Amino acid sequence: MTSASTARRPLRKAVLPVAGFGTRVLPATKAIPKELLPVFDKPAIQYVVDEALAAGIEHIIFVTGRGKGAIEDYFDRAYELEDSLKQKNKTSLLNELAAGLRPAGTMSFVRQQAALGLGHAVWCARDIIGDEPFAVMLPDMIMMAQPSCLAQMAAAYEQVGGNIIAVEPTDTPEQYGVIDPESRDGRLLKMKGMVEKPKREAAPSNLFISGRYILQPEIFGLLADQGPGAGNEIQLTDSMARLMKVQPFHALEYEGTTYDCGDKLGYLRAFAAHALAHGELGGKAADTLRATLEKK
Ligand code: G1P
Repeated sequence: MTSASTARRPLRKAVLPVAGFGTRVLPATKAIPKELLPVFDKPAIQYVVDEALAAGIEHIIFVTGRGKGAIEDYFDRAYELEDSLKQKNKTSLLNELAAGLRPAGTMSFVRQQAALGLGHAVWCARDIIGDEPFAVMLPDMIMMAQPSCLAQMAAAYEQVGGNIIAVEPTDTPEQYGVIDPESRDGRLLKMKGMVEKPKREAAPSNLFISGRYILQPEIFGLLADQGPGAGNEIQLTDSMARLMKVQPFHALEYEGTTYDCGDKLGYLRAFAAHALAHGELGGKAADTLRATLEKK
């Protein structure tokens, strides 16, 4: 791998793996993709797309699977709905729908045919990414941050280039990918390694990989021959641990709060936090939540 391969080429594309079954939030996800569950007034996936756009991403690649067609529909035009809103003169709703629409050709959908793991899901996007750096954003993880988590990472990428992952402290490292830090410069860390779902007592640190990545395209060559790891799945973490040996790789302890919506209580926290932060309804949401707790 040449040094040219890690030069700071612009970050334009993001991969959003959305093929997972959402087993931790069943039965809610039996017939609805978990990415479309509402987090107050928007589907979960919308927050992640907004975060990507706020970081300057121009093209989003969804890695989908069977039963996830509703995600594609959500990002498309809805002529019958628009027509019905027009007839009822619901102009502000119509404008809202139009504002959410991305320009044609800036979203791609590729199917992961079998649930072989996150590493395999990312690899499925290789042809659409081509030979340029890209972001990976796990839509289960909704980040509340200003600037957005990916924007903070993009700023770090401008400085150091290479590969960057977002990390933060956790009490349950065994549930995540965990880094082995070597040195720290402010919020930026150099690493000795990383491990996917370590045993609690063997976790190299309490800093977990929180679901946002900036990667160089050389990761695809490593993913191509990556054997199964934790959970017998092809793990992105295992290929990143190999890439780290040959390319610059940093972790960024980003400033903000992460909500793990793949989990029922994490989803509840995300829902409440976004209701409270809502520009128009935040105050009333606080009153409603307070009254609900008092009644209990
Ligand atoms: C994946 C990654 C893991 C990361 C986590 C964040 O795990 O493999 O490294 O910490 O997402 O949500 P999963 O949640 O798919 O088991």
